[in-house]
Amino acid sequence: MTDIFEFKTRVMPVVVLEDAESAVPMAEALLEGGIDAVEITLRHRCALDAIARVSARVAGMCVGAGTVTRAEDFGRVAEAGARFALSPGLTPALAQAARAAAIPFIPGVMTPSEIAAAREHGYLLLKLFPAAQAGGVEMLKALASPFADVRFCPTGGVSAKNLKDYLRQPNVALVGGSWLTPADALKSRDWSRIVTLAREASAIAGG
Ligand code: 3PG
Repeated sequence: MTDIFEFKTRVMPVVVLEDAESAVPMAEALLEGGIDAVEITLRHRCALDAIARVSARVAGMCVGAGTVTRAEDFGRVAEAGARFALSPGLTPALAQAARAAAIPFIPGVMTPSEIAAAREHGYLLLKLFPAAQAGGVEMLKALASPFADVRFCPTGGVSAKNLKDYLRQPNVALVGGSWLTPADALKSRDWSRIVTLAREASAIAGG
């Protein structure tokens, strides 16, 4: 894949923002806590605006787009300033659109056949989603030998409690999760709580 995924920490916050105004302080809080990459999901109308604001105003933060499930999303997120994209899945149309947008892409997989299909499209860094339901750390261990050239970003059910276990797996490049930016903290604009959560995750990931 590409250097774009060599972040300072191996933790990717998955953010569901409901107002674009929160995007910059949220990203600054993560950065203050030692996290320099963030996935803003396309789940609210403000997502593209939020990506554009972080991209333009938060130096040092690598912002990407998540929940990219439609081919037409790629052009929009690239134009907004997203430096990478993730999806919970993969289709031939998504792979084609990712290539056309020339944006690094981490497609989602949950089964061995989906991993094999993603690899046929040239993807060797894959989002295991939903990770907990797919079998979590035990699933990653089982996939290591048959797919020795594939690295994963498990997402779904990852938290400060099990972060270390996931990161210990040799086939885990990074993890994703929403626990760093809880909905209630975003709603109440509790940026210091996000700094604390980011610091905690950075310490676990670095230790
Ligand atoms: C997502 O929203 O992409 C994932 O479901 C995040 O899962 P989590 O909320 O368990 O971290």
